[in-house]
Amino acid sequence: ADVPILTIDGPSGSGKGTISRIVAQRLGWHYLDSGALYRAVGVAAGWANADLSDPAALARLARDTVIEFRTDGSAEPRVLVDGTDATDELRTETAGAAASAIAAVPEVRAALFQKQRDFLRPPGLVADGRDMGTVVFPEAAHKVFLSASAEERARRRHKQLSDKGLEVTIDVLLREIQARDARDAQRVVAPLKAAPDAVLVDSTGIPVEAVVERVLAMVTSPG
Ligand code: C5P
Repeated sequence: ADVPILTIDGPSGSGKGTISRIVAQRLGWHYLDSGALYRAVGVAAGWANADLSDPAALARLARDTVIEFRTDGSAEPRVLVDGTDATDELRTETAGAAASAIAAVPEVRAALFQKQRDFLRPPGLVADGRDMGTVVFPEAAHKVFLSASAEERARRRHKQLSDKGLEVTIDVLLREIQARDARDAQRVVAPLKAAPDAVLVDSTGIPVEAVVERVLAMVTSPG
């Protein structure tokens, strides 16, 4: 039978990563963090001093960069980029900005398409990103579009940053999030939008465990 797929798309700060990881673990399925692939290519482009205005060079980099996920029993896998542990570097704002720049290049998206498809193996796959249900795994039987209000996402981001000892006002974060939402929704290549057959889940004010239960129920309920 076909390998079952659950796609979870949505804006950053919607809780996608957290929810996807837990759901994949509960189901015993593989997990694809597609944002990490874009971040890895963005970081590799920086290391190689690649010309960001040369789509062919970026596509080559996207195709040839070796990206490995190592789960050594800990919750968060280490990410190796061309053999170098880049886990911490991938989480930085710089890597996020680099990812979003190279993600706008159609040739890069095409080059990463097969790398993402390769994650599809039995017994199943949870794929987390922006275009998992629309472009990369359109055949998925289970699709979630996870959202949260901009205010809630700003609050979550504020908590993450202050836990790390960084002080930024919620207001500044809110304005950044609103600007990024507008950019992501309006970009020509793979704009962020829900697949027509996705179930919209708004996580505003809902505890993680309740969102996990809701998503698991979609996958395990018959029909
Ligand atoms: O999800 P994450 O914040 O790690 O993604 C980093 C960037 O990679 C996003 O801002 C987006 O521009 C890009 N991305 C994408 N398509 C995906 C996943 C991420 O364009 N499927």
